Amino acid sequence: MAEIVIVADAAAAGAVVADEIARLVRSQPDAVLGLATGSTPVPVYAALPSRLAGVDVSRVRGFALDEYVGLDPDHPESYRSVITREVVEPLGLDPERVSVPDGSLNGIEHAGDDYERALVDAGGVDLQLLGIGTDGHIGFNEPGSSFASLTRVKTLTRQTREDNARFFDSVEDVPRHCITQGLGTILRARHLVLLAFGKGKAEAVAAAVEGPVTASLPASAIQLHPHATVVVDEAAASDLRFGDYYRYTFANKPAWQGL
Ligand code: GLP
Repeated sequence: MAEIVIVADAAAAGAVVADEIARLVRSQPDAVLGLATGSTPVPVYAALPSRLAGVDVSRVRGFALDEYVGLDPDHPESYRSVITREVVEPLGLDPERVSVPDGSLNGIEHAGDDYERALVDAGGVDLQLLGIGTDGHIGFNEPGSSFASLTRVKTLTRQTREDNARFFDSVEDVPRHCITQGLGTILRARHLVLLAFGKGKAEAVAAAVEGPVTASLPASAIQLHPHATVVVDEAAASDLRFGDYYRYTFANKPAWQGL
């Protein structure tokens, strides 16, 4: 199963995960990072610049998980804009080496296949950051998504549109469709790091980690991955059955293993 790391708060989670990313980039300057959006990865991105100071990041590659369909890429809440603002610019990455699925309507029918090809050509993702939706989605793979799915267009649930309405003027402004890496795509990454904070995520986290593996809870797919790490704060961990065991395990983990 996934390794569960329970930390005090989001800042502590950001520090643990940023340490791991910095370690990866130092040892592998052409590392391929899988980038997530939403509020959850923000503490990781905030903790990274100081850890990567003086490290050559010119060869680092990045692939975003998903994008809204039909939203102008220059819209401040397009995932292209978010990744540029929160990751590419602060870390000084080469924008040419950071890809986001193309959600423009022109060519949308082959955008998924194009993205899959680009991922394969880059050698695959070394470390994939993931958030989790309150309905257990990862990327934008809503409940019912196939575990074998690849990058494709999906329809957002009402719940996800309501959850994401805070980034827009109203829920009606949240696009109805998205293009997202599939669960099959995500499972190909060499290391999955899922983060979750707050009581609102506790039920989804417990179901993903300790519940049955089911397409009805897409994040449960991480149980199939040989190297998955789940980093949660105390509130997001509050529904876990074996929380004490996870704390004990992490406290006694040999330092050389990293995350
Ligand atoms: C969106 C993103 C997901 C993210 C989820 C949770 O739906 N497509 O990648 O994990 O929101 O968002 P937040 O981290 O803001 O709670």
